[in-house]
Amino acid sequence: MKTKVLLASAVFMISAFAATGAQAGVDEAGAKNLLNENGCLNCHDVTKTKTARSYKKIAAERKGKPGAEAAIIKHLTQPSTVKIGEDMVDHPQVEADPAQVKNLVKWILSR
Ligand code: HEC
Repeated sequence: MKTKVLLASAVFMISAFAATGAQAGVDEAGAKNLLNENGCLNCHDVTKTKTARSYKKIAAERKGKPGAEAAIIKHLTQPSTVKIGEDMVDHPQVEADPAQVKNLVKWILSR
């Protein structure tokens, strides 16, 4: 009888953890789709520096700093210019709804 109760509460706890995990997690496939659709990977690799810094490097520099998420959302939704070599070029903007952009930014920051 005692074992049954313990087992039931263990199952309850595991499912409660699973639910929180799903809520806090990012939609990996959704983020990667946006990167592909918007040509982001032409300049950014996830781990290696190409024309631009890798997402891992960007995350390392931004992680834990206040306003990191908001700053990157702004960078991706409003016109901005970046320097490539000696040239200033328009940085592409992400065409997606705000929830998808936010998901992508969370994904970048969690590299
Ligand atoms: C033409 C090349 C190019 C493309 C395409 C490109 N970027 Fe960038 N991106 C840059 C450069 C250059 C910088 C600034 C310097 C650096 O990070 O190396 C930059 C900076 C960033 C940053 C850092 C912003 C910050 O304030 O820390 C993020 C995040 C980013 N890009 C995401 C993206 C995403 C998402 C896409 C696709 C929509 C994309 N980039 C497409 C070249 C590019």
